[in-house]
Amino acid sequence: MLTKEIEKCLNRQIELEFESSQYYLSMASWAQRHGYTGVTKFLYLQADEERAHMIKLFHFVNDRGGHALVPALAAPPTDFGSVKELFKKVFDHEQLVSREINELVDECLKAKDYATHNFLQWYVAEQIEEEKSAQTLIDKLEMIGNDKGGLYLFDRDLENFAPAQEPNAA
Ligand code: FEO
Repeated sequence: MLTKEIEKCLNRQIELEFESSQYYLSMASWAQRHGYTGVTKFLYLQADEERAHMIKLFHFVNDRGGHALVPALAAPPTDFGSVKELFKKVFDHEQLVSREINELVDECLKAKDYATHNFLQWYVAEQIEEEKSAQTLIDKLEMIGNDKGGLYLFDRDLENFAPAQEPNAA
């Protein structure tokens, strides 16, 4: 069973995954309005993935005797400047999520909640993949610089992008 404290921490994580989903959804909409079809596709998929991360937490919290709560969220930003700025924001956001997951893992160890600790290892592995994928895209954009043809090819590549394999379901 979850302690009240760990339940609260997991609900905070639910909020963060939901917030990530909405953030990427807003980025997807921006990219779509600017005609970046590959970037748009990538971001809609990313928004779906974050929602799946949230739902996974819902099941765990409720199965362990807690109550998973749907959070109220502030609207995300609507303007992201450029494709490069957008992906820098994705990377910063994923680093924030990783820090929060680490804090949560730490709380579980302090509370000797090894079941939740074990469950969270899936998220630890997932964050490694998400940070890596954002960093790879930023590296490519750095290479492209101000070359419009390069940006066109970058966008086209993302149309065929297959999302990184998620770690096996916990
Ligand atoms: Fe579910 Fe990208 O953090």
